[in-house]
Amino acid sequence: MQLAGVAAVVTGGGSGLGEATAVALAAGGAKVAVLDINAEGAARVAAAIGGISAVCDVADSDSAVAALAIATAAHGPARILVNCAGVVNPGRVVGRDGPLPLAAFEKVIRINLIGTFNLMRLVAAGAQSLEPFEDGERGVIVNTASVAAYDGQIGQPAYGASKAGVVGLTLPAARELARFGIRVVTIAPGLFQTPMMASLPAEAQASLGAMVPYPPRLGVPSEYADLALHIVSNRMLNGETIRLDGAIRLAPR
Ligand SMILES: NC(=O)c1ccc[n+]([C@@H]2O[C@H](COP(=O)([O-])OP(=O)(O)OC[C@H]3O[C@@H](n4cnc5c(N)ncnc54)[C@H](O)[C@@H]3O)[C@@H](O)[C@H]2O)c1
Repeated sequence: MQLAGVAAVVTGGGSGLGEATAVALAAGGAKVAVLDINAEGAARVAAAIGGISAVCDVADSDSAVAALAIATAAHGPARILVNCAGVVNPGRVVGRDGPLPLAAFEKVIRINLIGTFNLMRLVAAGAQSLEPFEDGERGVIVNTASVAAYDGQIGQPAYGASKAGVVGLTLPAARELARFGIRVVTIAPGLFQTPMMASLPAEAQASLGAMVPYPPRLGVPSEYADLALHIVSNRMLNGETIRLDGAIRLAPR
């Protein structure tokens, strides 16, 4: 899909991978709405790229409907959705203080998996009746899983499950939305240098980076954004999850 003049929505756009993608989409000429639960981050990014921002809790139906209404009023219905909002919230099945509180597990599933589906369903509903472009293409949805969907570590039962859910959502959604010319593709990043990662000490970040076979470093957000934009432009990519990870396979811990 072309970017010029097309409305795009990026969740989690106020930081990290979403921020880099919002910047790249805008540089390509898209009209970008930055959605984030962090109003300040969303507003900062939107101001930098000449887009608009809307506060949105992706896990909440009403909040997503309201945020998309703001985006649509400014730019028209979105054809491009990049789902980057997510949380890690590690916790063992049975930790020092006993079993993981169910609410902790549920929170990660709600934001990472249900939040992804929430925005997907709403943006697809808006895009399905838009004028088609070449090949009948109406929209493209890029989701963000993680390599933890496949090789989740100790302490990642909720995160790994939520991201495996995003992987599992990809093909059935792509198959269903195919008749409207809406593609669905998921990126499974390895280890990327974002504020999420910056919460770890520098030493830990360096040692994590050194575990990557090649290149032996953390990924940078623009490398994620490059792939997201390629997915948007390449119509043959559909219904697939692409690992973007320098060949890393996570160890148990
Ligand atoms: N950084 C990595 O190494 C890495 C690796 C694999 C997958 N990922 C995934 O990539 C995505 C982006 O992560 P990042 O590293 O840029 O993290 P980040 O913390 O920099 O950005 C995540 C953004 O999501 C927002 N967010 C959190 N909960 C939200 C909610 N309920 N509604 C709306 N927005 C919400 C945060 O405010 C933040 O701006 C996440 O889904 C993450 O799981 C990251």
